[in-house]
Amino acid sequence: MTVPKPLLATLQGESTQPAPLWLMRQAGRYLPEYRQLRERAGGFLELCLTPEFAAEATLQPIRRFGFDGAILFSDILIIAKALDRAVVFRDGDGPSLPALTGADELRSRPDTLVLAPVYTTLSKVKTALPPSTTLLGFAGGPWTVAAYAIDGSGRTQFAKARALAGNNPGTLDAIIARLSDATAAHLIAQLNAGADAVQIFDSWAGLLPPDQFRRFVIAPTRRIVTAIHARHPRVPIIGFPRNAGTLYDAYFTETGVNALCIDQTVSLAQARALQTHGPIQGNLDPAILVTGGATLDRAVSAILAALCGRPFVFNLGHGILPETPLAHVERLVQLVRGGL
Ligand code: CP3
Repeated sequence: MTVPKPLLATLQGESTQPAPLWLMRQAGRYLPEYRQLRERAGGFLELCLTPEFAAEATLQPIRRFGFDGAILFSDILIIAKALDRAVVFRDGDGPSLPALTGADELRSRPDTLVLAPVYTTLSKVKTALPPSTTLLGFAGGPWTVAAYAIDGSGRTQFAKARALAGNNPGTLDAIIARLSDATAAHLIAQLNAGADAVQIFDSWAGLLPPDQFRRFVIAPTRRIVTAIHARHPRVPIIGFPRNAGTLYDAYFTETGVNALCIDQTVSLAQARALQTHGPIQGNLDPAILVTGGATLDRAVSAILAALCGRPFVFNLGHGILPETPLAHVERLVQLVRGGL
């Protein structure tokens, strides 16, 4: 007998009650057991690329909160490392890498030796998960990965990447084409290794004006979606072009993603309108989860009242903040499971 997976069913277009729940960055520093594991692993990249550690990090939030989705513990910049960019993560400082100026500085295909531990992690997690939990793989959107690679970090508001988009779009097209091929291959390999669905995190999509958004976000995402669906036709793909505002609609209808993840700047009225195109995921403000109390209760009820009834996955509008109290996450689970 196969056990139903409520998150997977919702992403495939069913409306399930209560709404399935998981949180972006649900494995991370707000969890004491994560901080301990991170210490044991030594560095963040060691944690990502050692399957025993990465599988443990993936499972920690499932054990504590019983979320409906387990997201692979990895990072969007692992693909840059596999294309020969020397990525480092310094404590409290985010990622750094040598600034990229052209597509020929990227390998033409990802180094499989770098990525192999990611797939081993997924196979390990798959055998350890409760059968009703959906296993999610992920990658960064090519624009967001390009933005980190071109600027060399996230410290400069991606000024170089945005300048390249305006002044030399052909060079950016070539970088994004290479990243898109690598990303599609990486996501297909994650699905082959046991992921049930995948999410594309385009965290900095909202920096681009509409014409550039179509060229550097919608067009490459459509190519990635087409490549994945050619190999895995029924597998859901969640797109997250964060801060896309009025462009969410075009992204959802033109890329072919199966479900849309929205940030907390989207009103519930706009979210309902987007939901007519397919399943929606989001969009509690991570700062409200830090606040807790009556503010949290009210915000959760408003989201559930507006979006339940059609396919809806409860999530945050961006990653959980490290200062989030565990008791507030417990309360959130209770509220969403109560379906109120
Ligand atoms: O969601 C999960 O629990 C799975 C793991 C995951 C991580 N990063 C682990 C991580 C996922 C899905 C990501 C995605 C990611 N990584 C994004 C897209 C989502 C978003 O937040 O916008 C981006 C832009 C990155 C790049 C990145 N990695 C940054 C900017 C940072 C530094 C900021 C920070 O929170 O420290 C990271 C580091 C990182 N990735 C951490 C974790 C748990 C913290 C590292 C640590 O343990 O010190």
